Amino acid sequence: MSALAGRHIVAISDLSNGEIEGIFRLTDRFASALQEGPLSIVRRRRKRGGKTRPGLGTVGRLCANQVLATVFFEPSTRTRLSFESAMNRLGGRVISVADPRTSSAAKGERLADTVRVIASYADAIVLRHPNEGAALLAAESLDEPRLAELGRRVPIINGGDGAHEHPTQTLCDLYTIKKEQGKIDGLNVALCGDLLHARTVHSLAYGLARFGANLKCISPASLRLPEYVKRRLAAEYNCVPEEYESFGDLAAPDTGHVPAPRARGRRRAAKRLMDDEQFLEAVGRFLDALYVTRIQAERFRDPAEAEAARGSYVINLEVLRRIGKRTTILHPLPRVNEVDYSVDLDTRAAYFRQASYGVPIRMALLALLLGRKRIRTTKREAGPAPAAAGAEEWITSFECVNPTCITNNEPALRARMERIGDTGLLRCAYCDQEREAGGVSGGGV
Ligand code: CP
Repeated sequence: MSALAGRHIVAISDLSNGEIEGIFRLTDRFASALQEGPLSIVRRRRKRGGKTRPGLGTVGRLCANQVLATVFFEPSTRTRLSFESAMNRLGGRVISVADPRTSSAAKGERLADTVRVIASYADAIVLRHPNEGAALLAAESLDEPRLAELGRRVPIINGGDGAHEHPTQTLCDLYTIKKEQGKIDGLNVALCGDLLHARTVHSLAYGLARFGANLKCISPASLRLPEYVKRRLAAEYNCVPEEYESFGDLAAPDTGHVPAPRARGRRRAAKRLMDDEQFLEAVGRFLDALYVTRIQAERFRDPAEAEAARGSYVINLEVLRRIGKRTTILHPLPRVNEVDYSVDLDTRAAYFRQASYGVPIRMALLALLLGRKRIRTTKREAGPAPAAAGAEEWITSFECVNPTCITNNEPALRARMERIGDTGLLRCAYCDQEREAGGVSGGGV
């Protein structure tokens, strides 16, 4: 048995593989209850095929008298509304900050104070914030023993922290892949688009690697997976993603395909993405899923760079015609122009199913974190334990190099770094980004 009650979900590493599989089993039950219509989840017992099936009838009251706070400092459609729908489906209630201009953050209140106050109004908090590490800060602000006035554990659920992680989107993504392909282990999955800034991609890369998928990363050179993500993939999951600037470079070794010469300049190179017919002929034979993300324009320091990358890759009917008949096309949404609307009617386009799973996935997560359900995990499933609390020795004498890290935006918060083996690098505990240690030998707390 694994109890998730009261656990913070700041990163996908806060859940073991077995716990994720347990969440998926509970999701299946909630999804089938929802499919039978809203009434089926409030009936105590239902008869089907002559048999009485107990259990599902109580779903609609599982979280009665509990309150979820959704606190969103960035725009959202899917994450906020699917969490709110999930809590309503479980019989709970929701309070919400949908627009930061309407909260006292607009008057300068620091995040830690906001979270402590909301925790006294709610039983769980979903937080979306533009700064990397904001969810960890929120969790720590509730765990500080000297601030234990609450007397109960209020889980913080990361609904997306800057360009860092989005773990509950990863649950939706992995669940969709499993539904569409029947498994995750051994699949070839391409991650395509703005891999530098897309937080959904970072969490998903860890999740896929943990479940044994092979990663192929396709992006303009300037938008590759961050180095810290690649280092963690290699060190923690023994996964080294293949990287390509063009679909043309990704041709299977046995096709005899020679990639076209590189175009010069970011814009011209970007135009070549998705443009290579030979790749598209080859891709279907070995690609099981294609996960596309938009250019995350809001994260670029220079808007002209975002504009230059926009439109550099487009999934359209021509691409569909050339990829495999079973290649699942995923997108966390919202899309801008990277998946043509004409693709929507194709059965391989799974992105609206992916978004719809957000409700039963988040119902399962809430029921578990609020202590209304427990999951059984077999020994085989137990997998790696959730990430340890932290480094043995934290170094606090350096600032984080990432200007959008929460440590550079929250008053009275010091960066905390850990050494990365013998690389001479330090990793920020909040945003994971790395910096030179600069000869530091000592630690401090
Ligand atoms: N996938 C996702 O996070 O969508 P929203 O930004 O609409 O929540």
